[in-house]
Amino acid sequence: MRWAIRPVLACGTLLLTGPAAAQDADVFRQQCGLCHAVVQGEPDRQGPNLWGVVGRRAGNIKGFAYSAGFRKALAGKPRKEAAIDRWITDPQTVAPGSVMAYQQPDADKRLALIEYLKTLR
Ligand code: HEC
Repeated sequence: MRWAIRPVLACGTLLLTGPAAAQDADVFRQQCGLCHAVVQGEPDRQGPNLWGVVGRRAGNIKGFAYSAGFRKALAGKPRKEAAIDRWITDPQTVAPGSVMAYQQPDADKRLALIEYLKTLR
């Protein structure tokens, strides 16, 4: 149901934007919130703070100890939506040796997560 109404959202039906955005935030809280802060300036958790992550360069949070595998495969590369989609599908295939313990095979959930990440700015 939710995905069937996406085209309507694209037309700018504001009444529907609220609930969909809230659902995206819920998915993030459940799936990622334990390890990632999202408010600018909040301390890193097990993973780096994700404020402004879409479009910034990978691995650029000062003071966060990225793994060697992450730095080798990704440091400095732009974090565009497609790259984040591949990353949350399976970090180990993108950056062998990465320490982000997470995988998301469901494309709809990944889309919701990325929609939410885009709001963090
Ligand atoms: C169990 C903890 C954990 C969970 C759950 C988790 N992450 Fe991570 N995340 C990490 C760690 C640790 C790193 C750093 C990886 C490394 O250094 O190898 C990371 C790195 C990242 C990065 C790269 C950030 C940068 O500065 O370049 C993104 C983007 C990211 N995670 C998104 C997500 C999203 C979205 C979710 C939920 C779908 C999620 N993570 C779930 C621990 C986690």
